[in-house]
Amino acid sequence: MSYSYLFRDDYSEGMHPRILEALARTNLQQEAGYGADTFSQEAEQLIKKMINKPNANVHFVSTGTQANLICLASILKPYESVIAVDTAHPNTRETGAIEATGHRINTVTGIEGRLTPTSILEVLESHTNEHMVKPRVVFISQATELGTIYSKDELQQLSKVCRQAGLYLYIDGARMGSALMAQDADFDLSTIADICDMFYIGGTKNGALFGEAIVIVNPDLQQHFRYHLKQRGALLAKMRSISVQFIELFKDNLYFENAKHANMVARELATGIKQCGYDFLNSTSTNQVFPILPNGIIEKLQRQYAFYVLAKSLSTPNSSVIRLCTSWATPESAVQQFLGDLKNYRT
Ligand SMILES: Cc1ncc(COP(=O)(O)O)c(C=O)c1O
Repeated sequence: MSYSYLFRDDYSEGMHPRILEALARTNLQQEAGYGADTFSQEAEQLIKKMINKPNANVHFVSTGTQANLICLASILKPYESVIAVDTAHPNTRETGAIEATGHRINTVTGIEGRLTPTSILEVLESHTNEHMVKPRVVFISQATELGTIYSKDELQQLSKVCRQAGLYLYIDGARMGSALMAQDADFDLSTIADICDMFYIGGTKNGALFGEAIVIVNPDLQQHFRYHLKQRGALLAKMRSISVQFIELFKDNLYFENAKHANMVARELATGIKQCGYDFLNSTSTNQVFPILPNGIIEKLQRQYAFYVLAKSLSTPNSSVIRLCTSWATPESAVQQFLGDLKNYRT
């Protein structure tokens, strides 16, 4: 089926042209393998400087699922578990990758995709002895699966609870760029590095061909991480293929400009949909919007546009929640065309 435009994902294009140029420019340069290359070292230094953490460790992997499962499995003892919201990506979309490493995910109900300190404490209160798993890591994503973000204060509160309870805090940053560039964001990458033990900066969803940068802030978790990478098949001989991309992404703010654009077109979509009189699952300030549209209109839109239909709306009869996702490459003309069609179908 051919569509006018895909609002399905933020990785529907190959890569930003500057990434393609950077890969081509460095292509014939001979380098050492497995991360010992000059690009990986430069990218690591660049990221450490940006977060103001000279003693952090940086590793590059190819997918978000790989980052999540390797990071979490590297932290946990066999009987330890992860606390996450029910909508968390590893709980809904990663084929049981975390569970396949032998660790349970203790899920709690999120508030618009966000985890709260209270729900962490509730899990701890109900896991008190060796007949149960021992929660050890708190998993959150910034931005969340529902397109929302945690404020600096919320992040600090989560961090405080974790530190008091002896839990590690891990942040999935598949959409970190979008979160950082949200209009209501009051944090930067240093804030993220200050409040958590380990996180990753997503490249795949923000203009890279592929690649995620894992940052291990807590020195207790740094040792032997490359063994975990290698054993799970993630230690790339051509690690340079990812680090070259991150160097380019962080040159002249490309990473941030990409995310700013994706957020801006998502905002235009949301504003136009609201003007048509439709409601949303929740309000977002990142590159995903979740309008609730009548099923008949969804069917018509689906003939021209690709997007996910998530669930029947419980609040609005004969309507469903859809997800529209924008990217660094989404043209404003595609947004205007979608909104024009929505208006036509409404009448
Ligand atoms: C928040 C989040 N984490 C992790 C992933 C997994 O990334 P990948 O598909 O690269 O494994 C995704 C992908 O959609 C995601 O949205």
